[in-house]
Amino acid sequence: MGWRTRISRLLSLTLLATLMARALAENALHMPQANCEMQSLGGPSWRSGTIGKVSCKCDGGEGRKMSVRRQGTIESTDSYNGTVVHVDANPANEWERRYECLLDGVIQSHVCVRVYALLNLKDFVCRDVVYYLRCTFSRMENGNFENKTHYQLAMGRAKPIDCRKSEDERSRGKVECSVPIDPNSRAPEWRDFRLIMSDDLGNQSKVLRLTQAEMEVLEWPRGKHNMIQTPNQTCLEWNGPFIYPNRTFELNVQFRHSKLPNLSRNLTVSQMRAVSVFDQVCFGNPPEGNQLFYVSLSRRLHGSPWSERYPEFELTTNASLPARPPRFLANGFSHDRAKRELKVYWLPLDELEFNGAEQTYVASTRYGTKVATTQGSMLAIFTDWDDTQPATVSVWSSNVVGRSLESSQLEVPRLSDIRDRRIYLESYNKTSSRLSWQGPEELGNFTGYIVYWCKLSSKVHDACDDSSSIETTYARETAYNFSGIQGVIRMAVAANYSDGLTTGMRWWSGDSEVPEKPKILRYVEGTIALLVLGSLVLAIQKLRQMADIRVELPVMSEEPTANPLGDVRLFYPANVPPEKFYGTVRKTVTFAEEEPTRWPEIELQEVPRPQPVPQADAYVTNQYVSMSAIGAPCGDGYIKPPPVR
Ligand SMILES: *[C@@H]1O[C@H](CO)[C@@H](O)[C@H](O)[C@H]1NC(C)=O
Ligand SMILES: *[C@@H]1O[C@H](CO)[C@@H](O)[C@H](O)[C@H]1NC(C)=O
Ligand SMILES: *[C@@H]1O[C@H](CO)[C@@H](O)[C@H](O)[C@H]1NC(C)=O
Ligand SMILES: *[C@@H]1O[C@H](CO)[C@@H](O)[C@H](O)[C@H]1NC(C)=O
Ligand SMILES: *[C@@H]1O[C@H](CO)[C@@H](O)[C@H](O)[C@H]1NC(C)=O
Ligand SMILES: *[C@@H]1O[C@H](CO)[C@@H](O)[C@H](O)[C@H]1NC(C)=O
Ligand SMILES: *[C@@H]1O[C@H](CO)[C@@H](O)[C@H](O)[C@H]1NC(C)=O
Ligand SMILES: *[C@@H]1O[C@H](CO)[C@@H](O)[C@H](O)[C@H]1NC(C)=O
Ligand SMILES: *[C@@H]1O[C@H](CO)[C@@H](O)[C@H](O)[C@H]1NC(C)=O
Ligand SMILES: *[C@@H]1O[C@H](CO)[C@@H](O)[C@H](O)[C@H]1NC(C)=O
Ligand SMILES: *[C@@H]1O[C@H](CO)[C@@H](O)[C@H](O)[C@H]1NC(C)=O
Ligand SMILES: *[C@@H]1O[C@H](CO)[C@@H](O)[C@H](O)[C@H]1NC(C)=O
Repeated sequence: MGWRTRISRLLSLTLLATLMARALAENALHMPQANCEMQSLGGPSWRSGTIGKVSCKCDGGEGRKMSVRRQGTIESTDSYNGTVVHVDANPANEWERRYECLLDGVIQSHVCVRVYALLNLKDFVCRDVVYYLRCTFSRMENGNFENKTHYQLAMGRAKPIDCRKSEDERSRGKVECSVPIDPNSRAPEWRDFRLIMSDDLGNQSKVLRLTQAEMEVLEWPRGKHNMIQTPNQTCLEWNGPFIYPNRTFELNVQFRHSKLPNLSRNLTVSQMRAVSVFDQVCFGNPPEGNQLFYVSLSRRLHGSPWSERYPEFELTTNASLPARPPRFLANGFSHDRAKRELKVYWLPLDELEFNGAEQTYVASTRYGTKVATTQGSMLAIFTDWDDTQPATVSVWSSNVVGRSLESSQLEVPRLSDIRDRRIYLESYNKTSSRLSWQGPEELGNFTGYIVYWCKLSSKVHDACDDSSSIETTYARETAYNFSGIQGVIRMAVAANYSDGLTTGMRWWSGDSEVPEKPKILRYVEGTIALLVLGSLVLAIQKLRQMADIRVELPVMSEEPTANPLGDVRLFYPANVPPEKFYGTVRKTVTFAEEEPTRWPEIELQEVPRPQPVPQADAYVTNQYVSMSAIGAPCGDGYIKPPPVR
């Protein structure tokens, strides 16, 4: 390589270096070094509830975009004249609140402030606990300030006492101040308090007034309760005295039924306790026996706030006698004369009305002379029934405890005497869903028909399944149109008389009950028919001879449908005053043996129980704030001087 070449390379390198240096110098002229100063106006510590301001000033910032924003947020205040002031109204209390200053989007500087809590009482309450008043409230500062914040409470003109962190689990996390009082002197109607909150930034205080009634809130004893359950009432008892002896208090009891929300109850009872070493509350049990309830309690002295609710506990009511007997259906019996059988029908009890397990019914005639066999939940059968005697049938509901105190009565008349009140089921037209029958002969005192039906039934024609209730309606005509009712399976009809003498229900068996007419009558009828037919034939022949007219003869009469009951089923008297079905019920003396029947448990959804609404007592803020200089947060530990102009 020659020297020329070397020189020319050197020259070009020098030229390049010169050009670059010039270019850099020019660039430096257009981009002066940024020197931003950030500052918190009003000191490095703020008080929540006031307005906080920070400013940023950059040398040479004029004409360029300057922003101030709080760390972690996107909102910023922008300016183009070299100074920007950012304002935060009511900053939340915070250990280190950091603001950043940006020039053309690049962070240049930052400042940190400490925001102290504002005295803002929301839930200040005091409880009179004999030797002192226990006042609690939620602390206002955040956890980082806890060691720097102190609370004191002064009652009246007395020296303030120090408050501390509550150790009671029911006021966990709260501040508690125990102000001693003299238990022997009469409590004033109200008391004035002054709460002082001190932190590095100064003291704040608030004056409060509470009435004695507001402070007399009954609290629940800490220990486990002892439950004393009798059939009538339940008592909860705790070791430890009741602190307001001989004063009336109200006890609110909420019963939540385990399955049926409409059996849940809410009641308030008054009670009073004399001096005792036990604290005790008592309440009456719900009337439904053998049921699981969840109970929650709350109590208060007159004029005072309610206590907290005592944690829910279970209460299974003792099984008791069934609430009532079943009710007989109107005219609720049917008689089979051939079998000498009488069946009685009633409306069963609701499962809950049984108040106990082993739910059955017991039916017997008066004085227990005849005992029926119950079948299912709505009928009983008396065998060998004497229809020449009237009788009163009684029915009870029964459970593991015993029979219902009362019974329902059904008067069965002397059936053999009132045959002319019987009706005969005639036919059921499946196409038109129409049941028709022949009305009774006796029309004196007759008021109409009662029609019965149900939608579920096992094979028996005169009974319904336990799960299917028997429904009734009235009819004036000798037919009833079931086409409006879906799925009717069993039907019965009874003639109703105002004097109560009824022959009971007739169940549709599938065959006509209409009796064949006596033989002699049919013979006479047949003879007359033959004679008429004969004269008709003669007349027709005569007519045909006169004018060749064709006439078709009508088919005379079909063989009458065989009636399996035939003439055996005659007319029976009846005597059933219907007010007896639902009216006065009598206690009976004799009891009959009965076979227990098992009942399916009712399955129902549980309903979520309502949540208690938290109580929040708001006190108006009335604060006295004084400020003092504090070391700045944000690590560097010293206050930055104001920016140089
Ligand atoms: C700069 O502009 C802000 C508004 O963006 C204004 O409040 C402030 O007074 C101005 N400062 C100067 C020094 O002009
Ligand atoms: C407060 O002080 C306690 C003990 O003096 C200490 O254990 C705790 O960490 C401190 N809390 C804070 C937030 O400084
Ligand atoms: C703040 O209150 C405390 C306690 O009541 C008291 O000792 C202290 O002097 C008060 N400080 C100021 C600045 O008022
Ligand atoms: C239960 O209450 C009834 C009436 O309320 C009363 O007659 C009966 O004696 C009470 N039984 C018990 C054991 O308290
Ligand atoms: C309670 O509800 C059940 C079913 O939800 C109902 O059968 C019953 O009639 C209701 N009882 C009352 C007293 O409302
Ligand atoms: C119970 O009754 C009280 C008033 O007697 C009422 O304040 C409360 O809300 C009721 N609770 C429920 C769950 O209905
Ligand atoms: C409470 O009442 C009982 C009897 O009613 C009486 O013996 C007792 O002295 C009373 N106690 C108080 C503290 O009034
Ligand atoms: C009632 O029930 C409770 C608890 O189930 C039982 O301890 C108590 O003996 C029962 N009382 C009667 C009279 O059956
Ligand atoms: C049943 O009713 C339908 C419609 O009303 C009718 O057409 C039919 O003839 C009736 N059947 C009998 C056997 O009466
Ligand atoms: C109708 O009832 C009345 C009393 O209720 C009775 O005296 C009368 O004999 C009855 N009439 C007939 C036709 O049964
Ligand atoms: C029965 O009632 C239905 C309406 O419910 C009607 O359409 C029908 O014609 C009635 N049938 C007879 C035979 O009356
Ligand atoms: C049935 O007869 C009773 C009197 O025995 C009367 O009170 C009732 O109203 C009658 N019912 C009908 C539907 O006629």
